[in-house]
Amino acid sequence: MHVKTKLNQLISFYRTPVTPESYFLSLEGIEGSGKSTQIKNLERSLIDKGYRVLNLREPGGTEFGEKLREAILKSSTPLHPLAECHLFLASRAQLLKEKILPFLLQPKSVVVLDRYIDSTLAYQGKARGLGMETVLELHQHDPLNLLPHRTYFLDISLETSHERQKIRGQDKDYFESEKNEFYNKLIDGYREVAQLFPQRILKIDASVSMEKVSQMMLQDLEKILS
Ligand SMILES: Nc1ncnc2c1ncn2[C@@H]1O[C@H](COP(=O)(O)OP(=O)(O)OP(=O)(O)O)[C@@H](O)[C@H]1O
Ligand SMILES: [Mg+2]
Repeated sequence: MHVKTKLNQLISFYRTPVTPESYFLSLEGIEGSGKSTQIKNLERSLIDKGYRVLNLREPGGTEFGEKLREAILKSSTPLHPLAECHLFLASRAQLLKEKILPFLLQPKSVVVLDRYIDSTLAYQGKARGLGMETVLELHQHDPLNLLPHRTYFLDISLETSHERQKIRGQDKDYFESEKNEFYNKLIDGYREVAQLFPQRILKIDASVSMEKVSQMMLQDLEKILS
């Protein structure tokens, strides 16, 4: 079967939450793209509009998920890409069950996720070479087939990522120790994912100032919330 047809078939298994006036948002992008920075602005703006907001990060966000986060990001041995992928999925399924789904059942509630399925598609699907198809197949079943209403993909170059990480100055974790080749594949992966889900994912040039990025996101959010 043609690859594009297969991918579209897989995408048809996915759904978005349906509680009126409740929204599921995610932010994606490589290290230093500004996800944590922008989530703070987004939260403030949503609270001002009268929404209850739950910010979560992946992997993690639950007691069990944080243990998995530690297992992945502190791993001193390279994991098999499928092992890596399944650890992320286990963390995600638990986060959906414990936190995301119950929160979204309440009216006027917004879940904001720092990384979600698109990170798995880009990291394990593309950069680790499992293939987007495999990752999409693994997400076909409830509750992993839940997609955000909107995903902001903060797109920066590898050079910008390095510059910002240098300023931030933290120790490198499991992924941050990877070579440029891995990161170039990762960036390509995110861009491909944005093309796979053009209605859900808004790609934003995040090399501009924090204020400009925030302005673009908030302008778009007005449309999503109305
Ligand atoms: N648009 C921007 N212009 C310049 N610097 C920025 C911009 N956005 C964020 N930064 C700075 O870059 C650094 C990384 O930003 P941030 O921590 O928000 O990225 P991140 O996407 O959450 O990274 P990670 O995936 O590693 O958690 C921070 O020091 C932040 O202040
Ligand atoms: Mg961050």
